[in-house]
Amino acid sequence: MAQPCSIERAIELLKSGEVVALPTETVYGLAGLIDREETLKKIFNIKKRPFFDPLIVHVASIEMAKSLVEEWPEAARVLCEEFWPGPLTLVLPKNENVNPLVTSGLETVALRMPQHPLALEVLQKLGKPLAAPSANRFGKTSPTSAEHVMSEFSDDVAVVDGGESQVGIESTIIELNESTIKLLRPGVISFKKIQEFLKLKGFTFAYQEILQGEQAPGQVKHHYMPEQAVVIASQENGDLVNQVNRELKTKYTSYQILNLGEDVNLAARQLYSELRRLAGDPSVFILFIRKPQHQSEEWSAIMNRLNRAASLQY
Ligand code: TXA
Ligand code: MG
Repeated sequence: MAQPCSIERAIELLKSGEVVALPTETVYGLAGLIDREETLKKIFNIKKRPFFDPLIVHVASIEMAKSLVEEWPEAARVLCEEFWPGPLTLVLPKNENVNPLVTSGLETVALRMPQHPLALEVLQKLGKPLAAPSANRFGKTSPTSAEHVMSEFSDDVAVVDGGESQVGIESTIIELNESTIKLLRPGVISFKKIQEFLKLKGFTFAYQEILQGEQAPGQVKHHYMPEQAVVIASQENGDLVNQVNRELKTKYTSYQILNLGEDVNLAARQLYSELRRLAGDPSVFILFIRKPQHQSEEWSAIMNRLNRAASLQY
């Protein structure tokens, strides 16, 4: 079982090559130094994450980010000035300071400066970048509180308690090329907002969203899945439980509705804790009723997570 720990202890542990779960404003991350191969392997092992799924590197400063990439394009400069620290991850060509284990052998590295004061404090005091994937077992729901992390791992992982993650879903990931910006994972900083901002600053990129079916590395179709099945439907119907049991070969006796409300920021903040709460009863599945407003741009990051958490859609 994971254990709570202080910031000072977390820094000591990280320096000695251990992994520590840290709070960020998006979700909790399982952090470790990127210059220690055995630490990187520990991260993959604890998460049961396949080695083909690259890690995001967290930095305390622009200088630290620059030390990991081939070059720091002008677009990266203005984006980070606007959105860092915060839930935006930039994918850029890496340099030789980044171990291929971090990037799963890719020539690019994903970089982010988190906004949570405790994560920033740890990064600043260490003075070194930290790899930190979401602190959950591979494919499962991301943690937005220290309690979530503690219930996730049987291993002896230290956790810094930074309260409830205020954003609640993972960062937006974009890949920057010379002429193209590609959205690899939607987040609360919407792709539209990024495009509008860059246009305003005079950039003329082509913008590309990952096409359906096409995946960013490691972005497998089923992900963010809680212990009980999630079903998305446009409405309730009397035969739904039977239908679901038939298709999933399960024995659910009923369902509970996942109600995220109307406020999109609150919905993002509560999504994972609600999924975990509702998954506590093994006899019921989780039903999300899809409404017309869920197709809007502002709901796209939440719907992206729900679609991939869902076992069935009607
Ligand atoms: O908000 C977040 O980004 C959280 C917090 C802890 O910072 N982290 C997070 O990490 O969500 P993780 O490992 O759960 O998701 C990172 C995603 C993975 O899907 C991975 O495939 C992708 O980032 N990724 C990492 N490096 C990449 C690269 N070089 N190119 C493309 N995708 C990359
Ligand atoms: Mg994750």
